[in-house]
Amino acid sequence: MIKNSIRVFALLLLPALWPGTSGAADAGAAPFADEITKQENIYQSRGEKQPEGYVVDRSLLSYTHTLAAGFDRSLADLGPTDRWLDIGAGQGQAVLDYFESRLRRDGLEHAERKAKAVAISIEDRRLPAWNETAAKLGGDQLQYLPGKPLREYLPGELGRFRLITDVIGGFSYSTNIFDFMTTVLSMLETNGTFYSLLQDVHAENGANKPYYAGATYLTEIAGADGSEVRICAWLKSISCVEVSCNLKTDWIPPIETYRVRKVCDDVKVPALTANRFLAGTPPERGFKLK
Ligand SMILES: C[S@@+](CC[C@H](N)C(=O)[O-])C[C@H]1O[C@@H](n2cnc3c(N)ncnc32)[C@H](O)[C@@H]1O
Repeated sequence: MIKNSIRVFALLLLPALWPGTSGAADAGAAPFADEITKQENIYQSRGEKQPEGYVVDRSLLSYTHTLAAGFDRSLADLGPTDRWLDIGAGQGQAVLDYFESRLRRDGLEHAERKAKAVAISIEDRRLPAWNETAAKLGGDQLQYLPGKPLREYLPGELGRFRLITDVIGGFSYSTNIFDFMTTVLSMLETNGTFYSLLQDVHAENGANKPYYAGATYLTEIAGADGSEVRICAWLKSISCVEVSCNLKTDWIPPIETYRVRKVCDDVKVPALTANRFLAGTPPERGFKLK
């Protein structure tokens, strides 16, 4: 069992105000200003102040066990001209593992034949191992871009990617998953795949209840008439994508994994407005279909 989330409350132990990362909070999040400040405190927390539920060091093996079936194949299929983006990479351990396993086994020449990888994170969690591996490989084989959330990158700034992953990163933390998915799908090549997950959501098959008695699901969408729209159904309503959703109960709380394959360019994501954001690891969020 993978215990992964301490809902909301650990952050109350954090100091009142962190100097903050410029622009780390999502724009358009003004109604949640206090909660965004608390959330930034979590991003910037270190050592004893870092909530137990804020995990930043998952390995590539952990990504493989966590994400939907097919992730390891998608990664293995990448060639030297392909690019992989990991959104919300924490210390970038999964990306490092991708290169280091090959460096150890086959030496520099083979590591260079791997895809190029870009890791983005709001806060800079790089350890010396990242800089050492980046220096060994040289060029732009692996890049770590800290300082802002995904939505603050300009169109075209990061280029396009064959594979995009997000393990409890921006998809779980952003104040608006509509903006997030729109940006992800604009960066994904046609026939490329996005692998991600959410914790404690109402699964496609409706088999699970909110994990904490008396609480809501962690991420919820309401239709224009107030009726429930499950996350999987919303993803499946995006044009030009093929989506599969799978509830995994070996996490506490359970997760739903998503595999989103882009099959054509005319992507339209049904718009959502955010109506609830409570800081946490990850935050609690509510959205309404426009
Ligand atoms: C809980 S850590 C997960 C780290 C890593 N994926 C892992 O599993 O170890 C959350 C990460 O998501 C990043 N993050 C949160 N919201 C983001 C956003 N909107 N855009 C990009 N990164 C984001 C944080 O800065 C942090 O790097």
